[in-house]
Order: sequence, then structure tokens, then C-alpha cells
Amino acid sequence: MRILITGGAGFIGSHLTDALIEGGHAVAVIDKLSTGVGGNLNPQAKFYETDILNAPALEEIFVKEKPEAVFHLAAHIDLRESFLDPAYDAQNNIVGTLNLLRRMADFKVPKIIFSSTGGAIYGEAERIPTPETYHAIPASPYGISKLAVEYYLDVWRKLYGIEYIALRYSNVYGPRQGGKGEAGVTAIFAKKMLKGEPIEVFGDGKQTRDYVYVADVVAANLAAWDLKGGGVFNIATGVETSVNEIYEKISKLLGYTASAVPAPAVKGEISRSALDTSKAKKELGWEPRVSLDEGLSRTMEFFK
Ligand SMILES: NC(=O)c1ccc[n+]([C@@H]2O[C@H](COP(=O)([O-])OP(=O)(O)OC[C@H]3O[C@@H](n4cnc5c(N)ncnc54)[C@H](O)[C@@H]3O)[C@@H](O)[C@H]2O)c1
Repeated sequence: MRILITGGAGFIGSHLTDALIEGGHAVAVIDKLSTGVGGNLNPQAKFYETDILNAPALEEIFVKEKPEAVFHLAAHIDLRESFLDPAYDAQNNIVGTLNLLRRMADFKVPKIIFSSTGGAIYGEAERIPTPETYHAIPASPYGISKLAVEYYLDVWRKLYGIEYIALRYSNVYGPRQGGKGEAGVTAIFAKKMLKGEPIEVFGDGKQTRDYVYVADVVAANLAAWDLKGGGVFNIATGVETSVNEIYEKISKLLGYTASAVPAPAVKGEISRSALDTSKAKKELGWEPRVSLDEGLSRTMEFFK
């Protein structure tokens, strides 16, 4: 099939591109290379270096590529930056998506698989692991932008018949990850440890996240694409791991011996997060396969 991937030069998007090309599909990638890099790009993908905010360019790409499905990953992913410039975050994540949806409606593309977020949407949840039905109160402009897109998708399905699946990831990690975004902590630690640099840990380091390996996230996208129908699914492991534990595990793998440097807690960051994935298991037939130890070991091999 002819697939369009936005953000296909990024961390998750490039792995997804590889998997779809391996599956024999024709893949076109749109990426403005803000955080993504050309080196991530699969050479068999057709590459358009452009911004999803560029309406004429998008129009041209849809005319040429005639996509039959869209995987939408392009986004401003830096939660901390989203507090400093919420308008930039909303432009990229909300207005950019509306631009894409407009082309999808014009060209009658029937399905979109959207990379949403779990941790940033649920905010400081009282129920952990948090299910999709939990009342979402985002704690950051980034979380608001992702939840807003889910609402638009729901309306666009009713208005234009575009089926959608929103995959609410927890903290994704793995090879090719940049140092930004929600889950950049493993990449940041790895890069600094390999250079022998000191590492700051914000707050007491006891804050927990749910770390899911990138290959599992790619598998979830493929399962979502296969699903007849749509919906919202958490894609995670359901397991909480603290920043201190991640620090220790990566230190061990890389032979780094220095202690973490304490730094003030970051405003707007939640203290605990883990997502309930029973819905994905039941309806998508998806569950994570790579353990944290195995995933970290593969990731550290890459960064080495
Ligand atoms: N990494 C995680 O833990 C995580 C967790 C939850 C959700 N997500 C979501 O998954 C998606 C992929 O994240 P990632 O970690 O691979 O990040 P990434 O930064 O590596 O990938 C995003 C890509 O989108 C591109 N991009 C950004 N704005 C664009 C625009 N306006 N036009 C065209 N291209 C643009 C960037 O250059 C980059 O290549 C994002 O939507 C992110 O919000 C990621």
C-alpha cells in the first residue's frame, strides 16, 4: 500500500518507516528535520523535507503520493519547551495536524494512526496503571495539544469518515532517540555517560515512568493499522520505573561510576506514571515483548 508517514526522520517514525518498507509498502516521509535527522531515513522511502504547516507543499505531496493511510508522528515533542513557547507547540501539533486532516479529507484518505501520549495527557493520575477511560487533565501545553488532536480526530471521523486510532504511548526509548521529548532520559543519560560527563537528576529521582521499547511501539502501530475500526489505546508496559533505577541500570551497562548531581524538580512534571494496556491486549492483540533490561541493553549497544 501507499503510506505517508509524518515525522519519519525522527526516532519512532524512522523505525516505523523501516518496518513498513520491509513489509513491502511504498512509504513517503514528510519531515522538517527539526529534531529528526537525515541519517535516520530509510533510503527506500521517498523523502519530502517540509513542514506540515506548509499547506501548498502538503497538497502537492498528496497529489503525487495518493496515500492510502497516514501515520502521523510529526510533532513538537519537548514537554519542557512547551511551557516556554506554548504557541509554537500548538502551531506544530494542533494547526499542523488540522492541515494534514484537511488534505486527508480532500483526498479521501480513509485512515490515520496518530502518535498520542499517555503520561502527558492523564496528568498526575490517581489511578496507576491508568486506563484510557481515566479523566484526562493534561499538566502541560504539550499534553493539551495531543489531547486536542484526539478530539479533532473524533469530529473529523464523524464529518469526513476518516477512521482514526490514537496510540497513547508512555515513555518510548531505544536506538536513534534524540535527547529531547518526554522520554529522552535514557538517551540523555547514555550520551553523557559515554562522554564521562556529570549528570543532573531533577527532583529526588523517585519520579516514575513507564518505559516501552521502540520495537514494541512499531508493532503497536502495525496492529493499529490492521484493526478494522478505530479507538484510543494505551501503548506501554504498565510497569513503573524510577529515574534513579534507570540511572543505575544504564550506569551498570556502560561502566559509569559517578553519582548523579541533584537538580531542582521541573515545574509541570508529574511524579508517577504507568499505563494500563489491557485494552490494547484485548482489541489490538498487542502486548509489549521486550523487557526493560533487554531494551536498555540493545539501546546502549547502539549508543556505544
Ligand atoms: N518518544 C516518546 O517517548 C513519546 C511518547 C509519547 C508520544 N510520542 C509522540 O511520538 C511521536 C514521535 O516522537 P519521537 O520521540 O520519535 O520524536 P522525534 O522528535 O524524534 O520525531 C518527531 C519528528 O517530527 C518532525 N517534525 C516536528 N515538527 C514537524 C513539522 N511541523 N513538520 C514536519 N516535521 C516535523 C521532527 O523533525 C522529527 O523528525 C511524536 O508525535 C511524539 O509526540 C513520543
